[in-house]
Amino acid sequence: MQRPMKKLFIKTYGCQMNVYDSDRMVDALAPSGYEATTDIDEADLVLLNTCHIREKAAEKVYSELGRLRIMREKKEQAGGNMMIGIAGCVAQAEGEEIVRRAPVVDLVFGPQSYHRLPDLVEKAQKSKVVETDFPAEDKFEHLPKPTKAVTISRGLTSFLTVQEGCDKFCSFCVVPYTRGAEVSRPVAQVLSEAQAFVDAGVKEITLLGQNVNAYHGAKADGESASLAELLYALSEIKGLDRLRYTTSHPRDMGEDLIQAHKDLDMLMPYLHLPVQSGSDKILKSMNRQHTAKEYMDLLGRIREARPDISLSGDFIVGFPGETEEDFEATLQLVRDVKYAQAYSFKYSTRPGTPGATMDDQVPEDVKAERLQRLQDLLNKQQQDFNATCIGMTLPVLFEKTGRDPGQIVGRSPYLQPVQVDADVSHIGTIHQVAVDSVGKFSLYGKIVTK
Ligand code: SAH
Ligand code: SF4
Ligand code: F3S
Repeated sequence: MQRPMKKLFIKTYGCQMNVYDSDRMVDALAPSGYEATTDIDEADLVLLNTCHIREKAAEKVYSELGRLRIMREKKEQAGGNMMIGIAGCVAQAEGEEIVRRAPVVDLVFGPQSYHRLPDLVEKAQKSKVVETDFPAEDKFEHLPKPTKAVTISRGLTSFLTVQEGCDKFCSFCVVPYTRGAEVSRPVAQVLSEAQAFVDAGVKEITLLGQNVNAYHGAKADGESASLAELLYALSEIKGLDRLRYTTSHPRDMGEDLIQAHKDLDMLMPYLHLPVQSGSDKILKSMNRQHTAKEYMDLLGRIREARPDISLSGDFIVGFPGETEEDFEATLQLVRDVKYAQAYSFKYSTRPGTPGATMDDQVPEDVKAERLQRLQDLLNKQQQDFNATCIGMTLPVLFEKTGRDPGQIVGRSPYLQPVQVDADVSHIGTIHQVAVDSVGKFSLYGKIVTK
């Protein structure tokens, strides 16, 4: 007789790499009889896949644990059970401390241990488990593959982690500590995972890495491949329509990658290239290792190769020592670049990073005020960018039905949601859409029949 399935609920915080990892945890636990659920009430195992990037992100975990404690007590009173585990970057950064601060937690494990999950869950039935080592074996080799049915259920677009960790040590950032040194997956491994996605109907793949353009995965001949080489190889997969990659560092934007943007139509003309600040003084103390001018020159070369490319970015305001003049340099850079979209954050001091002990920390109210000004500008640019799309005909990959009956939704090359009234048979393929209006974030239009 088959054992009844146990239910697994995962809540994901942070970046796309955590989204990818959460699916891998589901895959890792499937052979132990766990099935993913979206209903936390029926969960036998709850995992929080956490983010440590800013203080707020990390603190969310503890408030969630407060709620989970009450939920578990109720379940236990009713004769049930619920195991609680913490994965991701808070787990890696805080380890034992989590169990001390929140005794409700049974299991803490870092991003490099996901393939050991069945074993860790088994052990945690008996006593608390904290596993934050960086094991020697290749995690990806040991992670079970999802079934075709599971991949189909995850949709037409997929993330695929090709590179993990970071060696750059920007002075504000925890990632080099939580994700360890830079490691790239071998080309063959990436190609076979991508092929399996495409065999299950995936049309668009976004390659992920904390520093994805530093990718240098091993080829069959023992040499290493750049991200550009990997993209060319992936572009050969029949049935795959679109490629993207994120997040890139300006210093790793090689000439061959710029050339790939020129050569590969399926590589979407939308690039997330964070600069963080427009002030050379701040860039230097952030240890970004490039100047504002170098960033602008780089954008010039990229735009020359792919004139229809649009940009997205990340910004930090209120880094230690940032004066009004430095902040004005950031605003000026934003005005010059004209972003299609961008994320911006108040600097958050992270324990153990060089920034945390720097002099001239910027007061909270100054940070808040600067963030507001920057976001006003970025929002305006996003609206302007969306408005320029009116009258254009854009290829849209339709993914699902829309909110209103008769409506379907897809994404433009620039990741804007595009809504049209059309039959569901259009879902799963790319159609040209004449854009006739824009909402706050979405574009609206009509499918143009050839
Ligand atoms: N590898 C990427 C960034 C990954 S972290 C890069 O080099 O650009 C994602 C974003 O979070 C960063 O780009 C930065 O804008 C923001 N961030 C990182 N640490 C931060 C901190 N201590 N305070 C505020 N924002 C931070
Ligand atoms: Fe963090 Fe800098 Fe590495 Fe990006 S490049 S992950 S910001 S240390
Ligand atoms: Fe957060 Fe870790 Fe990603 S700190 S942003 S989840 S790499």
